Amino acid sequence: MTACIVGWSHGKFGKLDGETSESLIVKAASDAIAHAGIEPRDIDVIYVGNMNGGFVRQEFHSSLPLQTHPDLRFKPSTRVENACATGSAAIHMGLNTLAAGKARFVLVVGVEKMTELNSAQAGEVLIKASYVAEEANIEAGFAGIFGKITSAYFQRYGDKSDALAKIAVKAHRNGAKNPFAHFQREFAYEFCRTPSDKNPFVAGPLKRTDCSPVTDGAAAVVLADVGTALGLKQAIAFRAAEHVNDFLPMSRRDIIKFEGPQLAWKKALAEARLDLLDLSFVESHDCFTSAELIEYEAMGLTAPGEGERAIHEGWVERDGKLPVNVSGGLKAKGHPVGATGVSMHVMTAMQLSGTAPGALQLPQATLGGVFNMGGAAVANYVSILEPLR
Ligand code: COA
Repeated sequence: MTACIVGWSHGKFGKLDGETSESLIVKAASDAIAHAGIEPRDIDVIYVGNMNGGFVRQEFHSSLPLQTHPDLRFKPSTRVENACATGSAAIHMGLNTLAAGKARFVLVVGVEKMTELNSAQAGEVLIKASYVAEEANIEAGFAGIFGKITSAYFQRYGDKSDALAKIAVKAHRNGAKNPFAHFQREFAYEFCRTPSDKNPFVAGPLKRTDCSPVTDGAAAVVLADVGTALGLKQAIAFRAAEHVNDFLPMSRRDIIKFEGPQLAWKKALAEARLDLLDLSFVESHDCFTSAELIEYEAMGLTAPGEGERAIHEGWVERDGKLPVNVSGGLKAKGHPVGATGVSMHVMTAMQLSGTAPGALQLPQATLGGVFNMGGAAVANYVSILEPLR
């Protein structure tokens, strides 16, 4: 254990008209610094998680946190990008900086302003996170990539549309408790299960309710070394932090095995000296409901091809043996790409400190897992967190 999250902030996710990535960054940064109980001048290094790729005209983001306070002027700040795992990538850069002894306090802000584009245009940006030489002509943007993965899964293991609909229902039931979520309402099983004008097919077997939405939002954390964290009012420690990249082309992999996520989980659980079921809950990367289904298998909750058991038997519900995505996940909370990994860590820190708002708080939360994924199981990050004291 080398580092802790000592302060955090999470803005409302959604279609945030009138906000810019700058305004979102400034609010997230100043709230996280205040929450840590430190001053802006105490921050040594800054990382900004932002995918961009054309979502907004302002491409150069690294100095935008300096707009928060004059004392941040001249602090080293870098934008970090690793597709949909950008937020975790920025956090891991912060952890590496602390481990190298180059900082006492690192500020990490994750942000994305996606809704200036319509869904089709956003899809054009997101498809750049595929292996463009072979995969970029697939229809429906990045949803098309997961449409293909889902079809391949159904071919091997049978049609799992019932399980996917139940995963969507769970996400929205949980998201309805989360004041930060893009969608804060429940969706009925029949609505999610049945194609309709309001729930059309988007790509392969995936319907609209199987997809995370196009969302704006920001979240931030302040990281500190353990010695420093001991003197602060809250500290959530990294018991493990692992990062595994796989080949980019899907043609070089058995894509429905999610071997990169599997290895990241295996390494993280070994580093933490824990079994999966020691965790109180997991925040997992449900960019599509089928991603969550396959992730049950990759994390070791079920055997390959049996992920549906986890949802059919209630194991991943709020009161199940391993609650998954009590925050509503990407599906209900929203997926502002650069912010998502930071948001997952913030949601976990809130649960572990007993400060999740209202009905979102779990009754027992002592160890939390985070899995954040960039591309189709390409950049894989697992963190295991626990309160320092
Ligand atoms: N889940 C549930 N409802 C959704 C939704 C989603 N993902 N996206 C939009 N809606 C709802 C809207 O709230 C709206 O409801 P209303 O009519 O009651 O107001 C309605 O559907 C139409 O919204 P619209 O934005 O026009 O839908 P769309 O068809 O243009 O976009 C998707 C829907 C699924 C195609 C789009 O959200 C998408 O591309 N998602 C995937 C994003 C992605 O690839 N992220 C990266 C993953 S790695």
